[in-house]
Amino acid sequence: MDVFASTEGPESDGHEQVVFCQDKQTGLKAIIAIYSTALGPGLGGTRFYPYATEAEALHDVLDLSRGMAYKNALAGLDLGGGKAVIWGDPEQIKTEPLLRAYGRFVESLGGRYYTACDVGTYVADMDVVARETRYVTGRSVEHGGAGDSSVLTAWGVFQGMRAAAEHAWGSPTLAGRRVGVAGLGKVGKHLIGHLVDDGASVVATDVNEAALAWVRQAYPQVDVVSDTTALISSDIDVYAPCALGGALDDTTVPALRASVVVGAANNQLAHPGIEKVLADRGILYAPDYVVNAGGVIQVADEIEGFNFERAKLRATRIYDTTRQILRLADAEGVPPAVAADRLAERRMAEVGRLRTIHLR
Ligand SMILES: NC(=O)c1ccc[n+]([C@@H]2O[C@H](COP(=O)([O-])OP(=O)(O)OC[C@H]3O[C@@H](n4cnc5c(N)ncnc54)[C@H](O)[C@@H]3O)[C@@H](O)[C@H]2O)c1
Repeated sequence: MDVFASTEGPESDGHEQVVFCQDKQTGLKAIIAIYSTALGPGLGGTRFYPYATEAEALHDVLDLSRGMAYKNALAGLDLGGGKAVIWGDPEQIKTEPLLRAYGRFVESLGGRYYTACDVGTYVADMDVVARETRYVTGRSVEHGGAGDSSVLTAWGVFQGMRAAAEHAWGSPTLAGRRVGVAGLGKVGKHLIGHLVDDGASVVATDVNEAALAWVRQAYPQVDVVSDTTALISSDIDVYAPCALGGALDDTTVPALRASVVVGAANNQLAHPGIEKVLADRGILYAPDYVVNAGGVIQVADEIEGFNFERAKLRATRIYDTTRQILRLADAEGVPPAVAADRLAERRMAEVGRLRTIHLR
């Protein structure tokens, strides 16, 4: 395969480094992609997934590492963008030796890349990876880690929603608004707590019966509907996609009754151009990678020695960043997703340039 040819796709306008790692004995096949170190070492999780082909794994890691550069830049972190994929079924091949072999490859990059959890990897896995490398975050609390990152992810989404509410209705609160939450997983559950505390009326859905049973028991005042179609066509002010990617597509956007969309799910825009359809319908969309950065803020804090209050303070600033992006979008006449990209690129260029000032 011609690796460098495949980095010319739309997902990449120039990664710094793409490393293929293999250990035949353990079955490890990993790709680590570093998009940019303009702001610091690349930070991004390790996705452990049974891709159909190597090309698919490569495409994903290039796309995801680029996304992390933008997310980390707007989160105000001194970190660049990186990501890794381990190609294979974690149920079949995830073992201590495989994870440790992977850790040694991460270590071999000398701190240019910090890893963390992603789909298919968990806090306990990062504890194992950490036995071979210093460059790992998302470890357990017992090992000096930040623990479950969904706590600050939900807090950050709530801050982004407050900023969007202020932009739409003049006041940074969800009190008196009706919010539809799709997906009651780790993030959705915490988010519902913040919304209820703020005085919002909440309607929720999930495909998992156990999650619905949880919300009925924990928050009897929350209305439950059968599926996302029912949720988005109900009388809601805010739609919070907190399940899988692609929530905003050619079917859901025309059916949406909410005038604001703010949620935790990654990659909510199903395809390029859908942000324009949202804008044309007068729906305010706070870009997913801006508002869901609380998780990466939480794990990044481990690098300094984890302090929850400091990390929470940083995640609270998602309110300011979202507000700035929504105002910039209005001022420049572009959708918020475009304004967010511009702001991220500006920070990478302006702060990244300072490294050209020679120190010693
Ligand atoms: N956990 C984090 O720190 C974090 C950080 C950034 C982004 N995110 C993103 O936020 C989203 C939620 O993350 P999570 O950690 O809560 O995941 P999770 O797996 O704990 O929860 C996802 C929930 O969505 C439900 N779901 C799946 N398909 C659905 C559908 N069609 N309709 C309704 N519900 C459906 C699942 O049953 C589950 O309860 C994901 O897209 C994730 O990538 C999470």
